[in-house]
Amino acid sequence: MTKTIVSNAQALLARRNKVVPKGVGIFAPTTAQSGSGPILTDLDGEEWIDFGSGIGVTALGHCPPTVVRAIQQQAEKLIHACFHVSTYEPYVALCEKLIQLFPHGDATKVMLTNTGAEAIENAIKIARQATGRPAIICYTEAFHGRSMMAMTLTSKISYKIGCGPFAPEVYRLPFPNYYYYGDGLTESAFIEREIQRLDIFLNSHVDPHSVAAIVIEPVQGEGGFNVVPKAYLQALRKKCTELGILLIIDEVQTGFGRTGKWAAYQHYDVVPDISTWAKAMGGGLPIGCVIGKAEIMDATTPGTLGGTYLGNPVCCAAALATIEYMESINLPAKAQTIGQILRRRLKSMQVRFPQIGDVRGLGAMLAIELVRPEDSKKPNPELCTEILEACWKRNLLILPAGMHKNIIRFLVPLIIEEELLQKGLDILEDAFEQVCSAY
Ligand SMILES: Cc1ncc(COP(=O)(O)O)c(C=O)c1O
Repeated sequence: MTKTIVSNAQALLARRNKVVPKGVGIFAPTTAQSGSGPILTDLDGEEWIDFGSGIGVTALGHCPPTVVRAIQQQAEKLIHACFHVSTYEPYVALCEKLIQLFPHGDATKVMLTNTGAEAIENAIKIARQATGRPAIICYTEAFHGRSMMAMTLTSKISYKIGCGPFAPEVYRLPFPNYYYYGDGLTESAFIEREIQRLDIFLNSHVDPHSVAAIVIEPVQGEGGFNVVPKAYLQALRKKCTELGILLIIDEVQTGFGRTGKWAAYQHYDVVPDISTWAKAMGGGLPIGCVIGKAEIMDATTPGTLGGTYLGNPVCCAAALATIEYMESINLPAKAQTIGQILRRRLKSMQVRFPQIGDVRGLGAMLAIELVRPEDSKKPNPELCTEILEACWKRNLLILPAGMHKNIIRFLVPLIIEEELLQKGLDILEDAFEQVCSAY
């Protein structure tokens, strides 16, 4: 009788399937026992090159020692007090630091959250209170989280199936995505058309005087790393100011250096009224925030914002240590360098493989769009799945994105050395060689 050998990883995944509901989706079949820098070690002791960073969180790699120490030291002093009950210093110190990094005008205020979705929920509540208006405008291909308002603002249908009814007073514009919606126009003609579309929308879909805010990701994350054109975001800023609509920029995936600047909006020479943050901010601990102009943040009634755990002291200490470490190594500059290496390599792969329809992104936030070789606009999700599987077989942890599941996104730890980065890209290129001939 043959005996089936089950690995520790397989055994854990089987246990997971028995106790965790299917709705908690799985991006990749890896397990994680420990992590150090850009390497994740699975339950069988196998080392993986981590090109996903836990979806953009571990920008400083796994378990950066100074962050671990800060967590330990804070946990020995105070783990929880609830900021509504007792004011503690790490919360205030973190807000001060965030205001220093991301001023939103002359006076700025911050509220801390646990997650990106909570940051979005609160940003909307703040915008509605500050303007007295109900409506929110968002975009196709957007992703803002899985709580009810954040999910309503999210475009990707597969994240929303059966979860409605959704929140009312949400209106959706096509994202200014030249690759998808360029329609043969020049890029500048396309941007002009999209700016005009905004005017038409505000005449035909929703009264601008009832709109509290427009929410936009400067580079869409889950949507496939689509970058907002500069002229569009600048026109949007202007339009919002003219009409008293608040501009909310969602920096949850783009923030803290990933795009080569501390904030992606800094590439655009615009300042949002409100911005939302999470992911890389806590170095791995759950923490996010809403940053906004003080007069807007203060237009809120006491008690309408908050929660038991928001801005937990240990998470605040982790975030402070994370930001300090990011500053000490100039993380945005590292992202620029990594972005240049990645882009060069992906562009050269695009020459070899016509199935790579597009290489796009900002800084180190880059993605490739996989298409049919005969039509650069026709998604190729089957090829994407096979490439990912070939990479996973060789211990490269890499993640998909996009409405059509045909995009591979790179969220590499920004402390990765070039040699390891190139090794991971060698694995990817081998996977293309192995798989592409069938597509
Ligand atoms: C742009 C953006 N906003 C919001 C969220 C939601 O963040 P969280 O998963 O922490 O709730 C995400 C998560 O991927 C995101 O990419």
